[in-house]
Amino acid sequence: MQRVRYYEYGGPEVLTVEDADPPAPQAGQVLLRAEAIGVNFVDTKFRRGSDSGSIFQRPLPGRPTGDVVGTVTQVGPDVDRRLVGRRVAALAEDAYADYVVAEASWLATVPDHLDSGDASMLAMSAPVALRILRAARLNPGDTVLIHAAAGGIGHLAVQLAKVLGAGTVIGTARSSRKLDFVRNVGADVAIDYALPDWPDQVRAAAPGGVDVVLDAVGGSVLQSSLDLLAPFGRTVVYGAATGELERVPVVKLFALRSVTGFNLTAWRHANPDQARQEMGELADLFAAGQLRTTVHASLPLTEAATAHELIEARSHTGRILLIPTTPPAA
Ligand SMILES: NC(=O)c1ccc[n+]([C@@H]2O[C@H](COP(=O)([O-])OP(=O)(O)OC[C@H]3O[C@@H](n4cnc5c(N)ncnc54)[C@H](OP(=O)(O)O)[C@@H]3O)[C@@H](O)[C@H]2O)c1
Repeated sequence: MQRVRYYEYGGPEVLTVEDADPPAPQAGQVLLRAEAIGVNFVDTKFRRGSDSGSIFQRPLPGRPTGDVVGTVTQVGPDVDRRLVGRRVAALAEDAYADYVVAEASWLATVPDHLDSGDASMLAMSAPVALRILRAARLNPGDTVLIHAAAGGIGHLAVQLAKVLGAGTVIGTARSSRKLDFVRNVGADVAIDYALPDWPDQVRAAAPGGVDVVLDAVGGSVLQSSLDLLAPFGRTVVYGAATGELERVPVVKLFALRSVTGFNLTAWRHANPDQARQEMGELADLFAAGQLRTTVHASLPLTEAATAHELIEARSHTGRILLIPTTPPAA
């Protein structure tokens, strides 16, 4: 089979396509024949190593993670054999490959007829988008500010905010093309947060302040966002694309504001039953057409470096997929 790893930190060119034997599933694991692999921003940070900042460190050799959609071909010794043949989605390591090992306990079942773009969101991106809105205790009618709203998670969060009954949804992104996209996926207002007056534009759209902020950008975007919260407003911090880990000034919270953090791994540990139930809920929303994934590009697995280039250029809207091209072993 083919797979992509990296053996030194650096630019997209360090991603190396190689031949390897398919891995063997161990206890608690399944082997998937991948049909598509969703590429996530965080892996471009891991690949750059120490240049990315302290929260993005992973050892060499680099085995990129990814949102794999595929069919179970083998199961580990203690895993239910009835899974063989089932089409599933999973967040996995060493995921840029024709065959990928995944944890059996966190497989998302893919509804019939769901395309690989939507399916690629079921295990990680969509659960994060839904859970950050719930972590924010979104109430019907709330005004919601979603940063990086043109991204993989962002464009789902815009749609889910509306599904959950949000009032005004404000999405931020850079470039007019991305702002059009953010409006097209359902935001009422789209604002270019590369402009220095972006907070004033949010104030104009939400004169009473915003009830919810979803932020995985960090830095000055997070700091300015805290000032935009209405009384009882909630910010959910779920990443730091800038690599800037901000201190939250307690004095800003005195104005009846709160900040909470979110991480999918922590959430799965804290409440596995609900985490699994939400994967099913999201599958139903995709199957019903209430939630849609925009696939920005589908590239052959061997062009993983191009996928990373697109993400680092910040040119993508929605999802980027890698597609294995090697025929399955007989
Ligand atoms: N907490 C969790 O469990 C969890 C799980 C998965 C992902 N995440 C985080 O969620 C965020 C979204 O993930 P994703 O895979 O869907 O990525 P994405 O949104 O598709 O891509 C990241 C986007 O962040 C924006 N951005 C802002 N400042 C940036 C900077 N300094 N450098 C690069 N990009 C910057 C860019 O959009 P603009 O060009 O429009 O600014 C970029 O397109 C990431 O920060 C990721 O680390 C968290």
